[in-house]
Amino acid sequence: MKSLLALTLTSVVLAQSPAAMGEAQTGIFGRGNATAQPNLSGGAGLPSLAQITKDMQNQREPDTTGGSGAYKASASSIASLANHTLFAPKTLPADIKLPVVLFGNGACVGDPTQFQKFLTEIASHGYFVIANGVLGAGFGSSSKNNSLPDAIEWVSKNAGTGEYAHVDKSRLAVSGQSCGGIQAYSASLDKRVTLTAIFNSGLTVEANTVLFDQLHAPIGYFLGGPTDIAYANGMRDFEKLPEKISRVVSNLPVGHMGTYYELQGGQFGKAAVAFFNWQMKGDAEAGKQFLDTATSPLVKAGWKIESKGFKS
Ligand SMILES: *[C@@H]1O[C@H](CO)[C@@H](O)[C@H](O)[C@H]1NC(C)=O
Ligand SMILES: *[C@@H]1O[C@H](CO)[C@@H](O)[C@H](O)[C@H]1NC(C)=O
Ligand SMILES: *[C@@H]1O[C@H](CO)[C@@H](O)[C@H](O)[C@H]1NC(C)=O
Ligand SMILES: *[C@@H]1O[C@H](CO)[C@@H](O)[C@H](O)[C@H]1NC(C)=O
Repeated sequence: MKSLLALTLTSVVLAQSPAAMGEAQTGIFGRGNATAQPNLSGGAGLPSLAQITKDMQNQREPDTTGGSGAYKASASSIASLANHTLFAPKTLPADIKLPVVLFGNGACVGDPTQFQKFLTEIASHGYFVIANGVLGAGFGSSSKNNSLPDAIEWVSKNAGTGEYAHVDKSRLAVSGQSCGGIQAYSASLDKRVTLTAIFNSGLTVEANTVLFDQLHAPIGYFLGGPTDIAYANGMRDFEKLPEKISRVVSNLPVGHMGTYYELQGGQFGKAAVAFFNWQMKGDAEAGKQFLDTATSPLVKAGWKIESKGFKS
């Protein structure tokens, strides 16, 4: 237990440290030396030991709900994509086509255990979610800079045919938390990607913001407020993106670890589902949660939201 806690703390810190965010893990957006160091004041947004213990306790209690959406979901593996984990409706629905969400884990680990409640929640709303890594590989495991690109290739080949006839490769989001957010930035250079979601992250190498000109897809940022070690970087990125990139940033003041451990991913689960429903399913009510902050249930729940470029 003790060493697991130590590893958790280490992975939290590493999640935004230059060492864990090199090009080999993150791709081109992680290239070079970090110039913007994480904000280490105010406890760096690290949860207390008591909080981590509680979080891990929650994580061990299996989520038997299958998510709050209409399509009860679970995790499984895909034989032809062995180093990833699928979160999807238990039965792929025949009445709808599922948009795809790819996900890179915090600290770029090769294990989505920390995020399984959150990813199951997204899947239950009718999404085909593929996370880097395999459940149970542990915090010592690592994903690579080609983990998200490999999943893009797999989707490109398999979605829309055979067993995956109801998976829609024309709606393809890349996303990730912390170090995984940098992986998402790099993967989003692929023209097949239609949307990017960055959770508790921002570029650690400020010089790489020059690469922003090469981006094409809208971006949603979900940050943990000023005590999140990624807050300053994420907010800077939100401001620095070129005008052609529509973006929205949502902050909930809970620090770097978000609410992923909570049942159905807590508030981060709700915000992510609203964002994907808006951007990938054309759900105007979901869009209002981000654009009409006077009436937004997300704002009522404590989120602070700013956007640029989206039309209400
Ligand atoms: C992956 O990382 C290696 C080592 O840093 C680098 O040589 C290679 O170009 C990277 N590949 C991608 C797709 O980013
Ligand atoms: C990165 O930092 C190291 C150590 O400070 C330095 O030796 C190296 O020249 C730097 N590399 C770049 C590309 O700035
Ligand atoms: C999965 O990861 C392991 C360890 O990094 C590697 O040896 C193996 O080739 C990978 N398998 C696939 C199908 O990518
Ligand atoms: C760093 O975190 C502290 C504590 O939350 C906050 O007061 C301060 O504004 C942050 N600094 C920056 C540059 O974001």
